[in-house]
Amino acid sequence: MDKKITIAIDGFSSTGKSTLAKQLAKVLGYVYVDTGAMYRAIAYFSMQKGYIKTDYLDKESLIVSLPNIQLQFHFNVELGFAEMYLNGENVEKQIRTIEVSSFVSKVAEIPEVRAKLVEQQQQMGKNKGIVMDGRDIGTVVFPDAELKIYMTASAQTRAQRRYDELIQKGDQVTFEEVLKNVEERDYIDTHRSNSPLIKADDAIEIDNSNLNREEQFELVLDLVKQKIS
Ligand code: DC
Repeated sequence: MDKKITIAIDGFSSTGKSTLAKQLAKVLGYVYVDTGAMYRAIAYFSMQKGYIKTDYLDKESLIVSLPNIQLQFHFNVELGFAEMYLNGENVEKQIRTIEVSSFVSKVAEIPEVRAKLVEQQQQMGKNKGIVMDGRDIGTVVFPDAELKIYMTASAQTRAQRRYDELIQKGDQVTFEEVLKNVEERDYIDTHRSNSPLIKADDAIEIDNSNLNREEQFELVLDLVKQKIS
């Protein structure tokens, strides 16, 4: 039997990390973990509690509340992937809004938030056979992952993908708004002092601006096969 490995996929927002990760997990029979959903759930929690107001985040209140935040993934057989539950409530839809997207980077900067989530992520991956995507998976969460992928694409390409997704869901957004949000998140994700998005030395970079889903999937599946056989 092939050996089970850890696959870490990092990169900017809307590079198609989760699409690739889900495809890999399905074909390999691995667990897929979307770590962005965990940061999003904490941003959503903060909004619900009133810790986020316009441009201000009450970090102290959030930090004090962290022990009361329980995050779980439950596999949805119909959808074929795990959905995010916050304190027992399915928040998969609520965490994908543009409001959450515009606050989540501020929440993800907080060291106490990162420490809590990194620990939970490491627990989820301790038996390998996992595909995890995020920003710090190959650098902080699983520095010993057997395969690390670092995905990139131009901001324009990524904003267009995100815009199409949101419009399809019926959200009222403009392309300019989405592009601004993508650029702002890129800036915060790469400039924060705690676990910024950087390519791990041993990660393989894939720019998918000009690759379709199938081409990208085949490329990465070949890399996986080299590692597991
Ligand atoms: O992948 P995403 O766009 O759903 O991630 C949401 C935000 O969470 C993103 O702005 C950066 C942050 N994030 C992070 O800091 N570390 C991770 N491992 C995953 C996401």
